[in-house]
This record gives sequence, C-alpha cells and structure tokens, in this order.
Amino acid sequence: MAQNDAFLSEIKEGNTFKGDYITLGAAMLNEQAIKNAFVNIPLKTLNRHGLIAGATGTGKTKTLQVMAENLSEHGIPVLLMDIKGDLSGLAKSGDANSKITERHDKIGFPYAPKAFPVELLSLSEQDGVRLRATVSEFGPVLLSRILDLSDTQSGIVSVIFKYCDDHALPLLDLKDFKKILQYATQEGKKEFEEAYGRISTASTGAILRKIVELEQQGADLFFGETSFDVQDLLRLDDNGRGYINILRLTDIQDRPKLFSTFMLSLLAEIYTTFPEQGDTGRPELVIFIDEAHLIFDEASKALHDQIESIVKLIRSKGVGLYFVTQNPTDVPEAVLSQLGLKVQHALRAFTAKDRKAIKLTAQNYPISEYYDTETVLTSLGTGEALVSALDEKGRPTPLAATMMRAPMSRMDILTATELEALVTASKLVKKYNDTIDRESAYEMLNAKIKQAEAEQERAKTTRKSTTTSSRKSTAMNPVIKVLTSATFIRSVFGILNKVIKK
Ligand SMILES: Nc1ncnc2c1ncn2[C@@H]1O[C@H](COP(=O)(O)OP(=O)(O)OP(=O)(O)O)[C@@H](O)[C@H]1O
Ligand SMILES: [Mg+2]
Repeated sequence: MAQNDAFLSEIKEGNTFKGDYITLGAAMLNEQAIKNAFVNIPLKTLNRHGLIAGATGTGKTKTLQVMAENLSEHGIPVLLMDIKGDLSGLAKSGDANSKITERHDKIGFPYAPKAFPVELLSLSEQDGVRLRATVSEFGPVLLSRILDLSDTQSGIVSVIFKYCDDHALPLLDLKDFKKILQYATQEGKKEFEEAYGRISTASTGAILRKIVELEQQGADLFFGETSFDVQDLLRLDDNGRGYINILRLTDIQDRPKLFSTFMLSLLAEIYTTFPEQGDTGRPELVIFIDEAHLIFDEASKALHDQIESIVKLIRSKGVGLYFVTQNPTDVPEAVLSQLGLKVQHALRAFTAKDRKAIKLTAQNYPISEYYDTETVLTSLGTGEALVSALDEKGRPTPLAATMMRAPMSRMDILTATELEALVTASKLVKKYNDTIDRESAYEMLNAKIKQAEAEQERAKTTRKSTTTSSRKSTAMNPVIKVLTSATFIRSVFGILNKVIKK
C-alpha cells in the first residue's frame, strides 16, 4: 500500500499545473488503475506535437477521440484525418454501458455522455465541405516537390508560373497547367523561346506524365476553386466549444500521393496565414493524423524534408500535430525527436523483429522506478497506454501507464441518415461546394490559339512572298531567369524556399 501512496502522490504532483489541462485517464500500477491518480496534459504544451502508437485494436483511435473531445470542450478547434471513417460518432452522444461505467469507476470520475460540434470535410466526392486549392496558390516549388521533378523539370515549372504571372493567366486547375505546358512547346514555342530560352518537349512530356499520375489519384478533384480558407477550421460553436473538423479520407488509402500533397499544402497554408502565436498558453488548432504512415510511405526524400521542416516551424503558430500509427518507426526519426507527447498503447511481441522494436521503443521513455517499461508495453490492455508528456515548463511528467477514459461521444459511426442531416445543416458546405470553372489559363490560351490561327489564315491569303526575319533567341537558362524575377516570391512558395534553405 505504501508503494501505491507514494505513486499516487508522485502522479498527483507531476500532473498539477497552473493553467488549464485535459485529462486522459488514471495512472496504473501493477496493472490496476489507481483511483484519482489523474494523468493530465497542460494545454500549454499541446502545440509541442505528439504520437499515439500501438498494435491494431489497442485503442489508438479512441484515444484520439478522447483528446479531440476534451480539446473541443476547452474551446480549441480540431482537425482529424479520418482514414478509416470511424470518427463520425463524435457528432452524437455516447451510450453508457457496464464496461464504460466500470472503467470510469476505476479512474475516479463519472461517465458523462455528450455530443460535439462536428463539420465533415472531403477531398473527393464524398459528402462534406470540399477542400480545394488552386494550382496558382500551390506554387511552383510545392508542385515540383509533389511531382518529384528533376531540377530541369522544376525549372520549367517555374517558367510556366512566371509566364502565367506576366500574362495574367490564372492557373486554377490541372487542366490549365497541362494546357500551358503543351502551349509552351507547341503554339507558343517561339514566344517562350524568345522570352525564357528553349523548353524541351522531352521535359514537358515527363512533367505531363507525372501530372497524369497525380490525376489518377484523384488530384483533379483537389485542384480548383473555391479554394478552402484555413480560417474556417478555427470555428467555435455557440457555447464556445471548438469545432471538430473531420476530414473523411476513406477513399484515400490507395492514393497516398494525393494525401501527402494535401497535407503539405494544408500545413504550408496554415504556416503562411496564421499569425505568430504569443504566449497564449493554449494551441489555436490541433491536427490529428490517423494512419499517419500513409503520408510518409510514398513520400520522396524531398517531401520528407519538407514535412520535417514544416512540422518544426508550425509549432510557433500554435498548431499541434499528432501522428497516430501502429509503430513509432512509421514516423521519420527527425519528426519523432520533436514530439512532446507520447501515448504508447500495447505492442505485440510475435517475432524477433517485434521484440527488438519493443526494446527500442522502451528506451525512448523516461526511466521510472515503478515500471519495467518493456514489460508494461506488452502487458497493457485495450484502452490503456503508457503516457509521457511535458509539463508547463517543458520538463517530462512522471511516466504513467494509463487507463484511458472512454469517449463521451458515440464510439460507433453515424448512420447514413445521420450523416446526411449533418451535411445538410452545415453552413460551410453551402459556401464551398459549388464547382466554379471561371475563365482561366485553359480557356484563355484556347482563345489565343484560335485567334493566332485565324490571323495566320488571313496572312497566308494576302501574302505572296515575304521573308520572315529570324530573330536570334537570347536564350538564358530558364531557371536563372525566373529566379531573378520579383514575382517569383509568392506566399507559400516563398516560405517553402526559406524552409529549404534552413
Ligand atoms: N478509451 C477507451 N474506452 C473504452 N473502450 C475503448 C477505449 N479504447 C479502446 N476501446 C475499445 O477497443 C476497441 C478498439 O479501439 P480502437 O479502434 O481505438 O483501436 P485502434 O488501435 O485504433 O485499432 P486499429 O489499429 O485497428 O485502428 C474500441 O472499439 C473499443 O471497444
Ligand atoms: Mg484506429
């Protein structure tokens, strides 16, 4: 008993904070929850990013749900990447059952079922607010990174953007971009050559193929208008609770490239538009990425670097990023080393490789006189996790095997009718869901080509024999030429350039 008392007082002391906090559950000793030994996370450190890991079915997604609810109650908006489609239940109140009340009895507070303000978002044709961005906003650097282009090809992309800037041609969707790319080596070949130097068809062909590949992953639905204003992620409901924005990505599992494209553009957009955060003691927005391995799996080295940099930088904007995945090694080392909160659910030791992974994982946790971390990692039950957090001064709180509280909202998903009602009631859906195809590069270039053809026709009929003076192209390396242009520095693009140089 003496050990229990000492443990309880250590946990209590380590989990008492000046400012506001959220409660995850109660600390456990010898596989039993210690009543009232609450494990709390100060709001102040929630922009320090985190990881929720563990074998399948151990409770990662429910932990995410619990955290999202508690943040919302504190007036902090949340964005969830719902890859498996199992989070819509947040919009409805949970149902108490004997298992849940028993869990909460052990933790030491009653179970209070509640519904939360939810907005459904989508990248494709699923119901919910359509998230889109224009190619112009995306910028040449990000587009080249996503397409995994060579330096020469990236140079051409920059030239294309520059040309569109100079000629006021809006690049809205991929159709626009493909059109101008073709134009640069066909009808507009001469014009481009004179202004920027020769652009090889081999290179534009390679870029086109990469765009088609991206389109096959559904990117044509993502690029276009109306582009999403990230400020709309920060809404509160009438009771001051933060909106839980659920991005439904069930159809994205086999399209990792589109997912990483979107994630990176979203983070870049947030980074450029959110003000630098003073010492408010709480995050502005918390983003959870379930099945996070999907962003990293197929990302190129360049994209990895970009993600790492932006993860580091976005913290100062008051944005916390939480990666949810089975194995901590799914997240790159450079990202892992930046995480403040770690919630590690049970790991399974089936193979020698598993045992090695467990040993490694255990080494990454603070030493505790109460636990043998390796043993705890394999003996945790469902909805239990090893929690390592930071206090308000950024020091680690006492390591705690934790019995997690149950979500207050429904653990199951919404029915089709409930989903429909939610979408129908949404104000944002009305704002974003009309597809606009206003006049952009595609239409303007087509008109230009038509006009040129008509002029040529006219010239042919009047001209008998004229010698065309061939002007020598003052060809300059296209990349250098564009890099010296002032218009080159645009929002996302400029920032990413800075990031790359760091
Ligand atoms: N905090 C909790 N309170 C009550 N029940 C829980 C809790 N966590 C997990 N469970 C139970 O465990 C089940 C599995 O949890 P969850 O879906 O979160 O696992 P997961 O780790 O996300 O699995 P996967 O890797 O397959 O996505 C839940 O359906 C629920 O019944
Ligand atoms: Mg899950």
